Amino acid sequence: MNKLAKIDAAICRYYKSSLTVSEELTEAILYSINGGGKRIRPLLLLEVLEGFGVILNEAHFDLAAALEMIHTGSLIHDDLPIMDNDDYRRGRLTNHKQFDEVTAILAGDGLFLDAFGLVAQASLPSKIKIQLIHHLSLASGTSGMVGGQMLDMKGENQNLNSSQLSAIHANKTGKLLAYPFLAAAIVAEQAEHICQQLWQVGLLVGHAFQIRDDILDVTASFEDIGKTPQKDLAAEKVTYPSLLGLEQSYFVLNDTLDQALAIFRTLESEIDFKPQTIIKMIEGLRLNA
Ligand code: IPE
Ligand code: IPE
Ligand code: MG
Ligand code: MG
Ligand code: MG
Repeated sequence: MNKLAKIDAAICRYYKSSLTVSEELTEAILYSINGGGKRIRPLLLLEVLEGFGVILNEAHFDLAAALEMIHTGSLIHDDLPIMDNDDYRRGRLTNHKQFDEVTAILAGDGLFLDAFGLVAQASLPSKIKIQLIHHLSLASGTSGMVGGQMLDMKGENQNLNSSQLSAIHANKTGKLLAYPFLAAAIVAEQAEHICQQLWQVGLLVGHAFQIRDDILDVTASFEDIGKTPQKDLAAEKVTYPSLLGLEQSYFVLNDTLDQALAIFRTLESEIDFKPQTIIKMIEGLRLNA
C-alpha cells in the first residue's frame, strides 16, 4: 500500500473499530473523507518524519489520519450555506448537499473530536502524545483554524489591509499546515529550537498555501480544483489577488516558498535531516503566471 492508501486505511480502521451510534453519521463522514483531496497535510507529516530518518509505522499513519480528519471537518463546515455556501467539494456535492445541513454540522463536529481520540490511542509514548494533542488543539481550535475562520467570515465586505489578511491566512490555514512540520519534529524527539524552526517553516508553507488557493480561485477551472471557481469575489472576500493583484500574488507566493526552502537548506547542514522529498513537495506548490 502506498502512503495515500495507508492514510485512508487508518481513518477507516478508526471508524470500523469505534462504537457506531448512527450509521448515517458515519456514512456522511466517510463520504467527505473518501471524496479524495490532495492529502497534503498528512503527506507532509510522513515525509518530514522520513526526512528525520523515522521508519514509518501504524502510529504515524494514525497521527496523519487524525490531521486529515480535522482538515476534512473544517471543509465540511466551511462549505455550509451559512459560511461559504459551496455546492461542490473534491469534485462532488458538498456534504450538506449530499445529505443535509444537520448531518454536515454533526459530521464536522464528529471529525474534529474523533481526531483527538485517534491520536490518544496511537501507539506512541504518552509524553509525546500529550504534546501532539496539545499542539493539534492549538493549531485547529480557537487559537488556530477555528479562530481564523471567525476572522474570515467577519472580514467579508470589509476593507482589510494586508496585515489583517495575513492574520486570517495564518490562522484559518497556516497553522494546520504548520502542524505536520512541528508534529514530525516532536515524534522524532528533536530539540526545542529545531521544533521551533520546523514550526516557522510550516507557517511559511501554510501562508503560501492559502495564497495559492486564492490565486487558483481566480485562475483555475472546476476540473482543476474540484470546487466552484471564482467564489471569493462573489462573496466579497478580501484575498491576495483582490488586494495586491494577480501578478504580485504570484510573487508573494513564490517568495514565501523561497523563504521556507532556505530554512530547510540551513537545517540540512545543522542536523541529520534529509530534505530532498520535502523540498520537492514545497517546489510543487509554486505557480507562475
Ligand atoms: C482547501 O484545502 C482549503 C484550504 C485550507 C485552502 P486543500 O486544498 O488542502 O483541500 P483538499 O484536502 O485537497 O480537498
Ligand atoms: C478555507 O479557506 C480554510 C478552511 C479552514 C477550510 P477557503 O474558504 O478559501 O477554502 P476553499 O476555497 O473553500 O477550499
Ligand atoms: Mg472559507
Ligand atoms: Mg471556502
Ligand atoms: Mg479558497
